Amino acid sequence: MLASRAAKCLVTGGAGFIGSHLAGRLVAQGHTVRVVDNLSTGDEANLAGLDGAIEFLRGDLCDLAVCRRAVAGMDVVFHVAALPSVPRSLKDPWASHAANVSATVRLLEACVEARVARIIYSSSSSVYGDTPVLPKTETAEPLPRSPYAASKLAGEQYVLAFARAGLIEGVALRYFNVFGPRQSPHSAYAAVIPRFFQAALDERPAVVYGDGQQTRDFTYVDNVVEANLLAAGAAGDTVNGWVVNVGAGTRTALVGVVEIIGRIVGRPLAFVRQPPRPGDVRDSLASLERVKRLLGYEPKISLEEGLRRTWTWMTDGANTIPGRLESERLRRQPA
Ligand SMILES: NC(=O)c1ccc[n+]([C@@H]2O[C@H](COP(=O)([O-])OP(=O)(O)OC[C@H]3O[C@@H](n4cnc5c(N)ncnc54)[C@H](O)[C@@H]3O)[C@@H](O)[C@H]2O)c1
Repeated sequence: MLASRAAKCLVTGGAGFIGSHLAGRLVAQGHTVRVVDNLSTGDEANLAGLDGAIEFLRGDLCDLAVCRRAVAGMDVVFHVAALPSVPRSLKDPWASHAANVSATVRLLEACVEARVARIIYSSSSSVYGDTPVLPKTETAEPLPRSPYAASKLAGEQYVLAFARAGLIEGVALRYFNVFGPRQSPHSAYAAVIPRFFQAALDERPAVVYGDGQQTRDFTYVDNVVEANLLAAGAAGDTVNGWVVNVGAGTRTALVGVVEIIGRIVGRPLAFVRQPPRPGDVRDSLASLERVKRLLGYEPKISLEEGLRRTWTWMTDGANTIPGRLESERLRRQPA
């Protein structure tokens, strides 16, 4: 769908970490890009480099009128928007449900009305839960262990149900621990890699929840963007109705990440342990068999290379964590 011509693409959540990278790549490929975002966790500053190249629509996808405006005239929708974070969902499961499930249903309704050809859904490896079997294959029974994981599974299942009903082509990409530039370390719900890098910048110990031996399949953001482009470019009968993992296909213990970061920043990163957090899983590793077979995906950027690029971004004066003041100003404006 994307391969042959300039397509009209909507990126929901495009002011966020992953969505802003995807929007940038789509623009670079010559596609027409619209972003819709309510700036709940995102920041317009993430799109600063794309001024004039994209259309930005500020609004909440729980609102059908916003969804209708967002999808009008679009060929393909990359549904990236969500309230991420397991701890956030434990604190406020209703908000996670609204942003991750209700908004997805609203968006699907609008997509069908507007005859959007395909929706590509950003799902999460968290849907697998804490199963001991590794690697995690798409045929495993999902066992979500947090409201966040349950909401991502519900959103995914809505997309696939609409696809099976023949209303739209749909594919769900289950991302494994994504990291890279523009992932904010500042939120109370920040992910582990930006938290570790921020600790290195501040020259204070990193906080590790649990014993640090838990493993994750850390995936550099460019690999995730690549998977989205492949999913948009594939023939409908290849991808429609499928769920596929998107990871790096290797797993690393948190203490291993601490060690690599120490090497990259040029001094060992000390860390302190705190009790494990509820909802966290012990080990995670993606089976890439299906995504390679269906999409021809290969993770091109390794963990270490991705960490180097992230550190370069964090320490480059031009790219300091964007727009915190700016986003506060925007939040004060009426929608
Ligand atoms: N970062 C990861 O490690 C990871 C792993 C697995 C899956 N995912 C999924 O990838 C997607 C993007 O994650 P991210 O890390 O870039 O998070 P992010 O918070 O940076 O981006 C999410 C964006 O969605 C927007 N948004 C939230 N609710 C909205 C609503 N109701 N209406 C409009 N916009 C809304 C936010 O403002 C934000 O810009 C999410 O769907 C997340 O569940 C992320």
